[in-house]
Amino acid sequence: MTEAVPSERSPRAAGEPLPVVPASGQGRSHGTSSSEAFDRWFRYPAGFASDYVSLLLSRLEIPARSVIVDPFAGSGVTGTSARRMNYSFFGIEAHPAIAELAVLKLQPAPRDASELTKVGMRLTEHAQRVADEVSRVAKPETDLIRRCFTPDVLAQLVSVRELIKGGEAGDWYLHAKWALLSTLRDVAAVRVGWPYQNPTKVRKPRFTDPLSRFRQRLEWMRDDLVTAESQPSDDLELQVVHGDSTDQRSWDSLDPGSAHGCVSSPPYLNNFDYADATRLEMYFWGDISNWAEMCTTIRSKMITATTQQSSVGAALAANESLEDYGDVSKRISDVTDDLKNERLARKRGKEYDRVVPDYFSAIGKVLTNLFAALEPGAPVVWLVGDSAPYGVYVDTPSIIAELAEHVGFIAEDDRPLRRRGQRWAQNTTRHQVELSERLLTLRR
Ligand SMILES: C[S@@+](CC[C@H](N)C(=O)[O-])C[C@H]1O[C@@H](n2cnc3c(N)ncnc32)[C@H](O)[C@@H]1O
Repeated sequence: MTEAVPSERSPRAAGEPLPVVPASGQGRSHGTSSSEAFDRWFRYPAGFASDYVSLLLSRLEIPARSVIVDPFAGSGVTGTSARRMNYSFFGIEAHPAIAELAVLKLQPAPRDASELTKVGMRLTEHAQRVADEVSRVAKPETDLIRRCFTPDVLAQLVSVRELIKGGEAGDWYLHAKWALLSTLRDVAAVRVGWPYQNPTKVRKPRFTDPLSRFRQRLEWMRDDLVTAESQPSDDLELQVVHGDSTDQRSWDSLDPGSAHGCVSSPPYLNNFDYADATRLEMYFWGDISNWAEMCTTIRSKMITATTQQSSVGAALAANESLEDYGDVSKRISDVTDDLKNERLARKRGKEYDRVVPDYFSAIGKVLTNLFAALEPGAPVVWLVGDSAPYGVYVDTPSIIAELAEHVGFIAEDDRPLRRRGQRWAQNTTRHQVELSERLLTLRR
C-alpha cells in the first residue's frame, strides 16, 4: 500500500514561496465567495476563494495584460480575479450551466446596468399577479423541486421563471436566470446545503420572501456591473469555452504558446459529483429531469473523478494511454491494484480502481494541452487534494507532478495548504488516513 505522507519537492527556484493560506480574511476555506463582486452571483461549492486566487496571481510576477489560463474554469473565479488584476483570461469548463455562468460573469453588461433594478421590479410585480395562474398551467415540477419549497414559495419562483423564459427580462435574460437560480437555496424549506440536497430534512428557510431575495440578487449584479464599468477592461480578452480540456479542440481559440500562466484546481479524486451538486438548479430550470439526462447533458464532458462515472471500457483505454507516461504509469497501476484488492477484500461496490487510471490519463491529456498553450517559462499553480478511498492513499498531487514532468514541465513545489476530511473523522467506517489540500507549482 502507498505511504500516507505528502511528498516534499524542492522549494520554488525563484521569488517568494507562494502563500499557504487558502482564503485570506474571508472566514472560509473554500467555495465561491458569497460576498465578493461577481463571485457572489452564484455560490458554486467547488469554487475557489477569489481573494486567494488574486493573492496567487499577484505573486506569479506576470506582466499586466498577459493571458491566464484555467482548464477547469468552474464558475470563472480565476477569470474574475484575472480581470480585476488586468489580465486576459482563457478558461474551459465542462459543466454546461456553470460554463454559462462563468461567461456571464466575464462579459460586459448588455446595456446600462441600472436597468436591472427596473427588470427586478417588473418581473416580481408581474409574478405576484400571475403566480396562481402560472402554477395551474405550468408543466408539473419534478418531485425534488416540489419537496424543496412550500407551495406558496414555489408558485412565486415558478412564476418568475416562466416570465424570464417568456422573454420578460429582455437582454437581461441570463442575469435574471442566475439571480433566480441563486435564490433557490436561499428560500428552500428543506436541507439543500452543498453538496447534496436532502428534501427529507426540513429546515427554516434563510429568507422567507423569494421575490425580494431575487430583487436583492439583481441589485448585487447591478452594483458589480456598475463598478466594473468604472474600471474598463475593454482591452482584455476574457473567454470561457464550454468544453472538455482533455480534448485539443477545446483549446482551438487559444494560439499555441500564447498564454502566460495558469491558476487552476482540477476535480479531486474524492467522489464529489459536480453534476449532481447542481441538481436542484438544473431540475428547476428544466435542463434535465432525471438521472440519465444528468449523465448525458451535464456530465458528458467531465473527466472521471467519481465511481458513478467510471466504466470498464474507459479504465482499459486509460491504462493503455498511461503507458505513454513512462515510470509514473507503474505508480498509478500499483495504486489501482491496491484499490482493487482492498475493494475485493472488503466486498465493497465502489470501483475506485476503475476511476484512478481514467482520472490520471485525463489529467495527462490536460497537461499536454496546457503545455502547448503556455509560453516557455510560464508558471502553473494547481490546488489539488489527495485521497484515500478504502484507506488506500492516493497521492494525487505528486502523481500529477510526475505526469507533468513527463509532459515537459518542471515540477517546482508541492506544499500542503490545509488538512481535509475532518468532517468525517468520527465516522468509524471511514479510513483514518490524514488528507490535505496541496498547492502544486509547475513551470513550462
Ligand atoms: C475543483 S472545480 C474548479 C472550480 C473553479 N476553480 C471555480 O472557481 O469555480 C473543477 C471543475 O472542473 C470541471 N471539469 C471536470 N472535467 C472537466 C473537463 N474535462 N474539462 C473542463 N472542465 C472540467 C468541473 O465541472 C468543475 O467545475
